[in-house]
Amino acid sequence: MSGVPFLDLKRQYLKIKPELDQAVMRVVDSHAFILGPEVEAFESEIAKYLGVKYAIGVASGTDALILALKALGIGPGDEVITSVFSFFSSASVISWLGAKPVFVDIEPHGFNLDPEQIADKITKRTRALLPVHLFGEPAGMDALARIAKEKNLYVVEDACQAIGSEFQGKKLGGLSPFTCYSFYPTKVLGGFGDGGLAVTDSEPLFQKFSELRVHGAKGSGDRTTIGINSRLDALQAAVLRVKLKYLDRWIKQRRDRAKRYRELLSGLPVGLPEEKPNRKHTYNAFVITLDGRDRLLEVFKQKGIGFALYYPRPFHQFSCFKPFLAKSDKFPRAEAASKKALALPLFPELSDEEQNLVAATIKDFLKG
Ligand SMILES: Cc1ncc(COP(=O)(O)O)c(C=O)c1O
Repeated sequence: MSGVPFLDLKRQYLKIKPELDQAVMRVVDSHAFILGPEVEAFESEIAKYLGVKYAIGVASGTDALILALKALGIGPGDEVITSVFSFFSSASVISWLGAKPVFVDIEPHGFNLDPEQIADKITKRTRALLPVHLFGEPAGMDALARIAKEKNLYVVEDACQAIGSEFQGKKLGGLSPFTCYSFYPTKVLGGFGDGGLAVTDSEPLFQKFSELRVHGAKGSGDRTTIGINSRLDALQAAVLRVKLKYLDRWIKQRRDRAKRYRELLSGLPVGLPEEKPNRKHTYNAFVITLDGRDRLLEVFKQKGIGFALYYPRPFHQFSCFKPFLAKSDKFPRAEAASKKALALPLFPELSDEEQNLVAATIKDFLKG
């Protein structure tokens, strides 16, 4: 066997090609490209899947986060606490609105923000918490909800990597004013391009958010808010409606693959993703940690094994976020993770043989 791809989206496509092609052609035939029946149907189907009252499709996960914060009135002078270790958007959306991102280091076991470090970061300007459910693992929502209630803070959950993940037996979404998702093609539920979603159980927040995605329009009359143009494309909605039917199956396959990696790599000096009680991980990424990672990458490259580095640079190491740092800010765990973390190939269609090759390569490398 020659090599293992990090991700092969074509395998998924080919399995359900007739359905997907038909869905795309349905939109083309109807010529209803903007919002309309496909987007409405998808919003109602995904709201049902997630167990929430309202779902609003937008152009990307980034826009979902921006509009969620905006709908809550967050802007200049406000502070929002988030993890120092995530995809760029988890922090950039805060500064894009003119607010200040305040960073918290990650937990001792895992890659999500450490709720125990939040209290020290709260000031009288803090308005919201923006936890990220990184790689598909739910963050500690019980502790976060407690802090939010005590300090009267909003919570906007970045679940862009965590569709279908569960906390205490319930899918993410509905616990907080807004939970946001991304349908970027590599996500567990990915479109044929960009797409995003925000969900809420609050009717007024649903109204506010819906106005913001269409230039602040309520009807055809006056406008009280200035919004943007950020709608989920009807073509994407049609594709996502097909894929949504397979989502639980794909999540199960990912979890089975993750379990298998855990078995294949057990007993080695490698940090494996933990399955914490009451949290259902969906493995948008299977991320291990090990010393000597960069030497292993050379071996992966020689053998044609795909990998990804999530994330080589925690937020405090980006120049654009330097103005938001306090002198006392230290993020040792995120810094260690940025040097040791390695995402292995994992997708539902990965074969046993491919997985064996990845594990054997790691084993041989560690034997020296
Ligand atoms: C954790 C996280 N937040 C936000 C985003 C932004 O989503 P999008 O790429 O759809 O704008 C992503 C995805 O790329 C993500 O992984």
